[in-house]
Amino acid sequence: MKVRKAIIPAAGMGTRFLPATKSMPKEMLPIVDKPVLQFVLEEAAESGIEDVLIITGRGKQAIENHFDYNPDLEHFLRAAGKQDLADLVRDIGDRVRIHYIRQKEQLGLGDAIRLGRDHVGDEPFAVLLGDTIIDPPPGQKPGLLQLLDAFGQVRSSIVAVHRVPREWVSRYGIVEGDPEPFDENLLRLRRLVEKPSPEQAPSDLAIAGRYVFTPEIFDCLETTPRGVGGEIQLTDAMNQLAIEEPVFALAWQARRFDIGNRLEYAKCFVEFALRRPDTGAALRAHIERLLSGGGEGLL
Ligand code: UTP
Repeated sequence: MKVRKAIIPAAGMGTRFLPATKSMPKEMLPIVDKPVLQFVLEEAAESGIEDVLIITGRGKQAIENHFDYNPDLEHFLRAAGKQDLADLVRDIGDRVRIHYIRQKEQLGLGDAIRLGRDHVGDEPFAVLLGDTIIDPPPGQKPGLLQLLDAFGQVRSSIVAVHRVPREWVSRYGIVEGDPEPFDENLLRLRRLVEKPSPEQAPSDLAIAGRYVFTPEIFDCLETTPRGVGGEIQLTDAMNQLAIEEPVFALAWQARRFDIGNRLEYAKCFVEFALRRPDTGAALRAHIERLLSGGGEGLL
């Protein structure tokens, strides 16, 4: 049951991030100098995925250009003696095989995944949201690899979840399920509740943007009616799947940054910049001066 393929949906309109997303895919927003989608692709490659299908749409050509070769730019960089940079930009799309399908109408995450049916065929596959960065603690495996390990154990569809403060549950899909006796971090899923109020939430475990599915999810997606906002909701199809066969949730340690949310994006950018050797020390000093009220004359 080796999982070789992944679908990365990246066709959403990104309305929460307008005006930036008027002409630029939110999945291409940079975290310092690397687009969000490149983090996602690297996580897939480091988890052993060999083949990725990116779901794109109108106005998303920047995605294809980023993972393609750019001979003019490479020639320019080499002529300028910047060999390292030339190698860096060439290498970006070489770590996995990448394919694209365009979603003609933004009918939701469920619809985007449905489009991958012919490409995936009759084998289990992973889904990584193209606007979500997973940040495992130091020394931990990449997010998707943790989930694939758990999939190897349960051999059923499985979704990653993380604990959120109670007052945040209404932003997420929340899991209702029973812990497995052999592993308290694994839950047998009863149902997913989309954006419940804190009083009605069955738990504080929120869906984290990484999934591994058996191909049966495609049958469920075909019969899922349009739900909230006229969209085909992945959570509706997963609830159907959970009726037909076991579905699990893995409560992992990794943090999740939903880049489509402005505050999460800002937090991710600052945290990653603070960690980098080339920007960390100077940025920390800058923020400390700002926070201590000594903003005047900042450089
Ligand atoms: P979101 O739920 O964040 O939706 O998508 P969105 O439409 O992009 O954002 P807002 O709410 O308007 O700001 C989660 C992931 O699913 C993709 C998005 O590109 C994102 O990576 N998606 C969403 C699709 O591929 N197609 C869709 O129809 C909707």
